[in-house]
Amino acid sequence: DDIEKGTYPHFMLKEIDEQPFVMRKIIQEYQNESDQIKLDEGVRDAMKDCDRVYIIAAGTSYHAGLIGKELLETVAEVPTEVHIASEFSYNMPLLSKKPLFIFISQSGETADLRAVLVEIKKMGHPSITITNVPGSTLSREATHTLHLHAGPEIAVASTKAYTAQLAVLTILAVDTAQAKDLELDFDPLKELAIVGNAMEALCDQKDRFEKIAYQYLYTTRNCFFIGRGMDYHVALEGALKLKEISYIQAEGFAGGELKHGTIALIEEGTPVIALSTQEHVNNLIRSNVQEVEARGANVCMVTREGLERPEDDVIIQDVHPLLAPLVSVLPLQLMAYYAALHRDCDVDKPRNLAKSVTVE
Ligand code: G6P
Repeated sequence: DDIEKGTYPHFMLKEIDEQPFVMRKIIQEYQNESDQIKLDEGVRDAMKDCDRVYIIAAGTSYHAGLIGKELLETVAEVPTEVHIASEFSYNMPLLSKKPLFIFISQSGETADLRAVLVEIKKMGHPSITITNVPGSTLSREATHTLHLHAGPEIAVASTKAYTAQLAVLTILAVDTAQAKDLELDFDPLKELAIVGNAMEALCDQKDRFEKIAYQYLYTTRNCFFIGRGMDYHVALEGALKLKEISYIQAEGFAGGELKHGTIALIEEGTPVIALSTQEHVNNLIRSNVQEVEARGANVCMVTREGLERPEDDVIIQDVHPLLAPLVSVLPLQLMAYYAALHRDCDVDKPRNLAKSVTVE
């Protein structure tokens, strides 16, 4: 263990730090001789031929899928649904005429996903597995595979595999858009390189995140994460990270939904981590923040350069808004890490959890 961890006290911290390198590796692996994105014909045709994508995943990979839907719909104009694998098997929705299944799985071994893959293969539907382990069961059994190139992820709480999943989903969306001759308003590889730099800037500020974790999370019983749109999906992932390793009861909520129930839980000192990286909802999420602050919440605001206000706590660099989730999740990963560390939790091997769950 010591050799692999190098100078790091935990795999999780090492893997958080590796994220800028993973971005660079993905750019390298997915660009062709003319510095363009070009996926295998098979994947390309499958994306072009389908009338709807069904993303199937669990845990952190499910949260990546939620953002994948936005990327595929916005960039590639492919209607997309995202499903929790264990629900899909036993409660299958009405499928479109030409469905394409995308299985997102770091390990490629999750039994809940395999159960769906077996079912849809019987029905004759094509599939793509997006995984960090190309020889894995889900990779072998699906029609196509896209590799994450994140390197082995050892900590149970997934970090670099999640951001790699978002990067590869971006590449898939861009490739599909190109195949469909849709106009792109950004240079994806350049934007991913900017993401890598923005991640690096955050990795260089660990002391700050340790202080924030200490201030907001050291003694708390619970914590809420809020955001709208893509920020909501990152909020779900931030809450999952915190739950998994610090055992703090944490929930992610859509900002506008708070008033329909959850705001009843806000009391003096309740920590709320709020995300605002999307311009069109910046004012709305800020009014949600005022609502919880008025009830005593301790708000930590994570925002993007260009949208920031003087009171904000964490400002991520100005990346393309569609790629903001790749960067805004880093502060949440680091806060979860330091919260767990200071609460004396076993960061890399949290209780009751396994890295890959091979039973349904
Ligand atoms: C387990 C892990 C989670 C992970 C989930 C899905 O529950 O503890 O961290 O997100 O499985 O794993 P996968 O390998 O399919 O992405």
